[in-house]
Amino acid sequence: MALAGFEFRHYDAGSAKAITGQLIDVYLEVYGAEGGEFYSEDRYREQLRNHMTADGWELVAAWAGAELAGYVYGFPLPPGSRWWRGLLTLVDVAVTEETGSRTFAVSELMVRERWRRQGLGHALHDEILTGRHEERATLLVEQDNEPALAAYARWGWTELGKLRPSWAGAPELDALVLPLRPDRADANGSHAGRIGGSGSAKL
Ligand SMILES: CC(C)(COP(=O)(O)OP(=O)(O)OC[C@H]1O[C@@H](n2cnc3c(N)ncnc32)[C@H](O)[C@@H]1OP(=O)(O)O)[C@@H](O)C(=O)NCCC(=O)NCCS
Repeated sequence: MALAGFEFRHYDAGSAKAITGQLIDVYLEVYGAEGGEFYSEDRYREQLRNHMTADGWELVAAWAGAELAGYVYGFPLPPGSRWWRGLLTLVDVAVTEETGSRTFAVSELMVRERWRRQGLGHALHDEILTGRHEERATLLVEQDNEPALAAYARWGWTELGKLRPSWAGAPELDALVLPLRPDRADANGSHAGRIGGSGSAKL
């Protein structure tokens, strides 16, 4: 999805290494006011390092000239993924079964303040999801993040349940899902069952 004034570039884990510093700088700018260890440079560097080992990891960056205006990244959930651990809502066990090709987890989506409310978040979201082959996408969002919740509702996401991740002091989050290929899957239920992906990392 093109958006005037921005160039979208796709990265895999190898090519993204060259812009890791800029990814961290934007993260710290966007979340800096939150404070605390969770939003620290070291914690985010470790998150990136860990997530970038996932098979199928992908990032889309929006460049305004030489400036990184925002980015989105995610990865397919491998079989046995830890993603759904901490789900507080009772759902059928089939809902959280991962095959490596069923679910693309959107881990981060951020747009720097000066470029917000111009459709860039939506364009990044569509740019990464349009090219994915998984049946559905998922993401976790803080329950008081009104801009994000409003955006996701507008973009077709629905709540699957409440989830509290395993890290110390983690808040209760909303786990959202979005069908990517409605012809083949119901984001909340059964799936057509393409089995694939080596899924070595239990992310
Ligand atoms: C969430 C975020 C990525 C949205 O980026 P964006 O470029 O502003 O998004 P868009 O311009 O595509 O906005 C799409 C829609 O989202 C909703 N929205 C976005 N910001 C909003 C706000 N501050 N208040 C209410 N609704 C908002 C609106 O419905 C908007 O459509 P509209 O502008 O036509 O009314 C951005 O606010 C951000 O980076 N926030 C900090 C990081 C974050 O919270 N990321 C999500 C973590 S789960």
